[in-house]
Amino acid sequence: MRELYRGWPDQLIKALENWNKVELDVDPRTIVICGMGGSGIVGDYARAIAYSKGFDKPIIVVKDYTLPSFVNENDLVIVISYSGSTIETIKCFEEAIKRKCRTYIIASNGILEERASETSTPFLKVSKGLVPRVALPEMLVTLIGILNKVKEIMSKDEAFKCSVFIKENMKAIENRAKYIAEQLYAKIPIILTYEKYAPLAWRIKNELNENAKIPSKVEILPEWGHHDIVGWENPISPGIWHGLLVKDPEDINTSKLIDFANYLLSEKGVRSTSMELRGDNFFEKIIYGSLLAGFTSISLADLYGVDPLVTQSIAKYKGVIKSILS
Ligand code: F6R
Repeated sequence: MRELYRGWPDQLIKALENWNKVELDVDPRTIVICGMGGSGIVGDYARAIAYSKGFDKPIIVVKDYTLPSFVNENDLVIVISYSGSTIETIKCFEEAIKRKCRTYIIASNGILEERASETSTPFLKVSKGLVPRVALPEMLVTLIGILNKVKEIMSKDEAFKCSVFIKENMKAIENRAKYIAEQLYAKIPIILTYEKYAPLAWRIKNELNENAKIPSKVEILPEWGHHDIVGWENPISPGIWHGLLVKDPEDINTSKLIDFANYLLSEKGVRSTSMELRGDNFFEKIIYGSLLAGFTSISLADLYGVDPLVTQSIAKYKGVIKSILS
């Protein structure tokens, strides 16, 4: 699994091949991105990156088996599923076809690949043989290739630069991850960051869930200061928690807010560790943070003696939702 994460610099470049295949002859009113789990988070990332670059259309991320009521033929619906066989995502695709939306599919395989040819839907293939959460860079850069046709948000150069940056920092990221994992061992992580990095915080949580098989909690500032903060007036088992502070050192005001949250938690007996984001721009920082989270969750899986690859409970859930929806 570790080796798969080490392949991220190559994934960033590989995905650029898909950019040459993208054709889009419409100017959509809204972009709706549908996907679940490791594929769904790709929509959150793409939206955050697009808005960091001044993208001027609404982007809605749907992690459900039904589309919002307003979605119609004026909208572009992009469905992403690494396996191509996730029931919720397939349902959204079928609904998009019924509503005559412009559609796009990103998958490596599966039912959606078949449906693409049956319905003449443009299809962008990502590499087989990975697991969805590890395919983040390839799915993300592929998706950005579609958004670029609406308004350019990233150049090939930026993807190349990020690939070099990640490659050069691989060893340092793995070492830092090992340290963070040691701090988190036998604790329930509270991942704390601010709104701009919320998708990364959710991604960190998901990685800890799926690879290390532990629960964790996400808190986002400034919203944190309007409810969760009160929960610490009556802290239950403070020793069980450990704060993971996701910080962009260049963002002074928000770093000050995180310092305040850290101060408050430490007063209640909760210790914390920082996860500082490195990189020249937002894209590099979230790829860096995601890789650091990936390696942290793998190191934590090693400490717990669990297999990071296997996700039995997801398979169980997929059986249940399939029988409910079909
Ligand atoms: C992540 C993972 C899950 C899946 C999710 C949806 O590695 O295994 O979160 O991403 O169950 O499946 P796909 O991505 O195949 O649509």
